[in-house]
Amino acid sequence: MNDSIGEFLVSARSFAEYEAFFDLGPDDLRGSVLDCPGGGASFTATAASRGVDAIAVDPAYAEPPAEVAARVRAELDRGNAWVTARTSRYEWGFHRDPESLTRGRTESARSFAADIAAHPERYRFGTLPDLPFADGAFDLVLSSHFLFTYADRLDRDFHLAALRELHRVARGQVRVFPQVDQAGGRLDNLVEELVRAFAEDGVRAERRRVPYEFQRGADSMLVLHSPGR
Ligand SMILES: C[S@@+](CC[C@H](N)C(=O)[O-])C[C@H]1O[C@@H](n2cnc3c(N)ncnc32)[C@H](O)[C@@H]1O
Repeated sequence: MNDSIGEFLVSARSFAEYEAFFDLGPDDLRGSVLDCPGGGASFTATAASRGVDAIAVDPAYAEPPAEVAARVRAELDRGNAWVTARTSRYEWGFHRDPESLTRGRTESARSFAADIAAHPERYRFGTLPDLPFADGAFDLVLSSHFLFTYADRLDRDFHLAALRELHRVARGQVRVFPQVDQAGGRLDNLVEELVRAFAEDGVRAERRRVPYEFQRGADSMLVLHSPGR
């Protein structure tokens, strides 16, 4: 079976998914939070509705909001087709079955579309490894399903540069999920190498188990600590 999803998918995960795979508690979501890349995820919309100063950044936001929303809607089919053709590679717990996954992602895309139309200032164009933010601009930085997910085309040097950039704009933690690639391949050597590179920079980096597993074996996140946290 083909193991490449093709172009970077502009996917639409929900706030509840982010809560689970980043193991977020109420204390984590205080102050400012960056979602990089935000894609069509509804994390920023829901977090902002709960009083969090949430910003999403993604190269896809170069287009006007209506076009980004249309692209996210079109991408739902590609994402769902990828999973439904490979159901045995996934743990069906958080998402009960492919139908409930599709319903959840469709709702998430709808919520994203409404928020980017009403609050375009929350959705900023930017491309790793160069983000348009000052050093230490965010209390928490979240990065889901870009780094590691696309390790088939993004090499070790790109990962290190991108993680250093996420760390630069964080005054608190950086959390990255998952640590497997799009086809479910484990990336332990790459993750360990990056943890060691951060240790050499004097930055504490750790792999931490999370209460979520959808792609088999994807049950931990990478945490980069900033001084003081
Ligand atoms: C699979 S989506 C993840 C979106 C969201 N975090 C989620 O989990 O639903 C991957 C995203 O990476 C974005 N992307 C592609 N190249 C990028 C880059 N160089 N820097 C940052 N984001 C990038 C794509 O536009 C796409 O929205």
